Amino acid sequence: MTDETAARLERAAADCAEKLFGGDPGGHDRFHTLRVARTALYLAGRTGADPHVTALAALLHDVDDRKLSPGTAGTLSNAAAVLSDPALDEAERNAILTAIREVSFRGTDSVTPSTLEGMCVQDADRLDAVGAVGIARAFAYGGSRGRKLYDPNEPPETDMDGEAYARRTSHTVNHFYEKLLKLKDMMNTEPAKRIAAERDRFMRAFLDEFYAEWRFGDNEGGIPDA
Ligand code: ADP
Ligand code: NI
Repeated sequence: MTDETAARLERAAADCAEKLFGGDPGGHDRFHTLRVARTALYLAGRTGADPHVTALAALLHDVDDRKLSPGTAGTLSNAAAVLSDPALDEAERNAILTAIREVSFRGTDSVTPSTLEGMCVQDADRLDAVGAVGIARAFAYGGSRGRKLYDPNEPPETDMDGEAYARRTSHTVNHFYEKLLKLKDMMNTEPAKRIAAERDRFMRAFLDEFYAEWRFGDNEGGIPDA
């Protein structure tokens, strides 16, 4: 596709994402989409992936998400509507739709994308779930669903398949063990592995500090933790 077609479609894709979940409190707002698109382009530039296919797949990666838009998750009809532009050829449209279909985290049922562009988008989406932004998004998501920050009586379950993962309603600290701390070893591209390793260290430091503060004063008078 030409740069002009790409620019027009990128605008339409960003508008579509904005309309569907402009103010989503669960960390899926417009800025998530824009961060993922920027990071995906960074990865594309370092791996040789097609930048236009990557950017469009990134901008549209959540518009048919099964949690945000369950009615269109099977058909990707929101993304397909943006991509119905006649300036796009069939192969490019399919490449973008394939990358979108393969992006999502589903516990042990997660898939490795079949294309480099899909790998860049999946890595970028996962990089936005780790590090400082990832921590903020996890607690925002948990809060938006009425979940507790932490409960020492509820241990994590680290081996869930896609269905069990989707049904899970535990506290947000468990989400670190059930998803976020696994992501560093699930990156597809070399640059994403490096970035993920740094963000993973930051999350582990955050958890150490969190537990230390949680237990603070626990020798003082026998007030139980739970
Ligand atoms: P993806 O972008 O891979 O589809 P999700 O839609 O599952 O990811 O999650 C979006 C954001 O919400 C991520 O930052 C993720 O870590 C966070 N999140 C998802 N499920 C939970 C949960 N059970 N508790 C806390 N945060 C969650
Ligand atoms: Ni996303």
